[in-house]
Amino acid sequence: MKVLVIGTGAREHAIVHALTQDPTVEAVVAAPGNPGIDQVALCRDLPGGITDGAGIADLAEELGVDLVVVGPEAPLVAGVADVVRERGIACFGPSAEAARLEGSKAFAKEVMAAAGVPTAMAHVCTTVDEVAAAIDGFGTPYVVKDDGLAAGKGVVVADDRAAALAHAKVCLDKPGGQVVVEEFLDGPEVSLFCLCDGETVVPLAPAQDFKRVGDGDSGPNTGGMGAYSPLDWAPAGLVEDVVARVAQPTIDEMARRGAPFVGVLYVGLALTSRGPRVVEFNARFGDPETQVVLARLASPLGALLRAAATGRLDEQPDLQWRDEHAVTVVVASEGYPADPVTGGPISGLEEETEAYVLHAGTRLDDAGLLVSAGGRVLSVVALGADLAEARVRAYAAVDRIDLPGSHHRTDIALAAQRGEVVV
Ligand code: AMP
Ligand code: GLY
Repeated sequence: MKVLVIGTGAREHAIVHALTQDPTVEAVVAAPGNPGIDQVALCRDLPGGITDGAGIADLAEELGVDLVVVGPEAPLVAGVADVVRERGIACFGPSAEAARLEGSKAFAKEVMAAAGVPTAMAHVCTTVDEVAAAIDGFGTPYVVKDDGLAAGKGVVVADDRAAALAHAKVCLDKPGGQVVVEEFLDGPEVSLFCLCDGETVVPLAPAQDFKRVGDGDSGPNTGGMGAYSPLDWAPAGLVEDVVARVAQPTIDEMARRGAPFVGVLYVGLALTSRGPRVVEFNARFGDPETQVVLARLASPLGALLRAAATGRLDEQPDLQWRDEHAVTVVVASEGYPADPVTGGPISGLEEETEAYVLHAGTRLDDAGLLVSAGGRVLSVVALGADLAEARVRAYAAVDRIDLPGSHHRTDIALAAQRGEVVV
């Protein structure tokens, strides 16, 4: 089969990398892709941008692909998958209606309530006074979330009441602005990607993401600074439990509403003392967790995504996983997440290491040299017999990379390696 992957990040590079290892995939095209993806697959421009459903469907027709895989949330929420499917092309990615599970936190809460899914108590607020009453009701730490898409910057978790209210005001000032105020959930976080074909749910291996910019979970939230998988410390039966109590009821509820969910339901969980609680749903693969989950997946990815896109997940054989542990470390630009500096020269990728480098925010300049072009620039991935070995390999490769002013966390997977993650 021939596959078209939409997106520009390290997640899409990881997806392309995995697809090229699937013997049933003859060709992979990425649009727009990035310079790293360009080394392993054809990249094509999207003149109308990543949310231009007609442009993407035209390209899919021109290329004669059998499957379109949509990576990021913005095109899904904009309805790209609907347009592609209307042209009779299989698409891995939910409809605009189903992608509201990510596009509106208030909608996600409503679906969870209807499906009996365990999550944080929450109030949907449309005025600052309502927010003030809600945060005072829950107490600290305050959790204030923008209802809509905010590229990882919509959530503030803080003890500072003024900061929580200031964030709420910024969100409410947007057209149609709404804010979701939640009870704080304590406990380690887990990301579980569930492949869905509208009816059947096939979970992948769980991963842990590091959202805060600095070591020891300091500083502001980011899109994600690193990840590892598997989670040896996770309670036995966690995945089955989350499928039974969260993913399947959610998928059933969406089908009942006439909006079947086809794609990845990303379940973000906090493992609290009262059991797993949903922190968020996303309607796509997570970045950087995908980099580690797909590094370990031994089953052919193309067949799996096509089965999900065509309602045949129930016919798939059990998934196979490599025994190794995977770690990814994100190399970010100076100033990320607040104000990333771009255009800096990147070197040190050519050297032989036991890790591989996936590109995120990179581009070739006029002289053909690789430069940074975004906040998260590279995602360095390594496998090892255990987390310690995977970390050594990943960090050895990170240390050889040179990008002036860049930064990365030095403690990705460290607590897990030391056996310090407790549920
Ligand atoms: P979200 O965009 O909903 O994923 O939130 C981003 C991050 O904020 C999550 O990964 C958590 O680390 C944190 N967060 C969100 N909701 C809560 C909550 N109810 N309690 C504690 N932390 C939260
Ligand atoms: N790693 C978090 C996300 O993809 O939203």
